[in-house]
Amino acid sequence: MPTPENTHPSPPPQIHLKRNARRRIRVPIHTPKRFYGFGIPGLDVNKLVGKLIVVEGADGSGRSTQLARLVEWLEGCGHATIQVGLKLSTLVSEELEKAKEGNVLSHTTMSLFYATDFADQLENIILPALRAGYMVLADRYIYTLMARDMARDMDEAWLRNLYGIALVPDTVFYLNVSAEQLVQRNFAKNQTLDYWESGMDLGLSRDWFDSFVKYQALMAAQFKRLQTSYGFTMVDGNRSPDAINADLRRKIEQLLIGK
Ligand SMILES: Nc1ncnc2c1ncn2[C@@H]1O[C@H](COP(=O)(O)OP(=O)(O)OP(=O)(O)O)[C@@H](O)[C@H]1O
Ligand SMILES: [Mg+2]
Repeated sequence: MPTPENTHPSPPPQIHLKRNARRRIRVPIHTPKRFYGFGIPGLDVNKLVGKLIVVEGADGSGRSTQLARLVEWLEGCGHATIQVGLKLSTLVSEELEKAKEGNVLSHTTMSLFYATDFADQLENIILPALRAGYMVLADRYIYTLMARDMARDMDEAWLRNLYGIALVPDTVFYLNVSAEQLVQRNFAKNQTLDYWESGMDLGLSRDWFDSFVKYQALMAAQFKRLQTSYGFTMVDGNRSPDAINADLRRKIEQLLIGK
């Protein structure tokens, strides 16, 4: 039995063509990839055809908000996406979470724990997804890990060597948000500040709010230092989510067409 829909004649072919043209998927221009240092042995970087897009920024800077919008936009444009982030590896994320509940491990042990978590995701998620042409969206990358450790007086050369395993992303956005805005956003979201993200282990102040502001300033200084050698794109994160997202989209579009 014909239904009311299929009793109508099909639209003329040129209308189909126009619609398809508008929805055409832009195949990203291939740009060669490289590792910061020794990388993963035996891996052919020329086969990594996807794009690695990193969003960095302090706790509550709006990374999740922006990433969710980017996923929706990129998938709407026909790109397959996958998300990675810190403490998400199948190998050590549970143990890492437990280690964060206490404050008994040394900075070096915690650092190696995080590096293991990163390496596992790099090898088992990021690289295979890039080989399959995915847009890999990373909620933080090695820079947060390095900045946290540098704020705790760990040796920068040792850290650079440790993260020589990392692939150089296609682009890194740093959401730059003032400490006052960060406090407001964190309270709006969690009604509290996080022990580690307030740098309470550093003994900067016994007052959490005061410690948070001091620690975020310390972290911002480390990011500024890393920015000179790793070259992030600084994004003014104090604006509305829409304005920030429009900025990110514009920059990602340029990346996809190889500009
Ligand atoms: N541009 C913005 N302006 C005002 N508020 C924002 C903006 N972006 C996000 N927020 C709000 O700030 C809070 C934190 O945002 P979001 O969860 O995206 O940050 P995050 O960086 O992912 O945080 P976390 O470090 O906890 O993962 C949320 O309540 C969110 O709605
Ligand atoms: Mg988040």
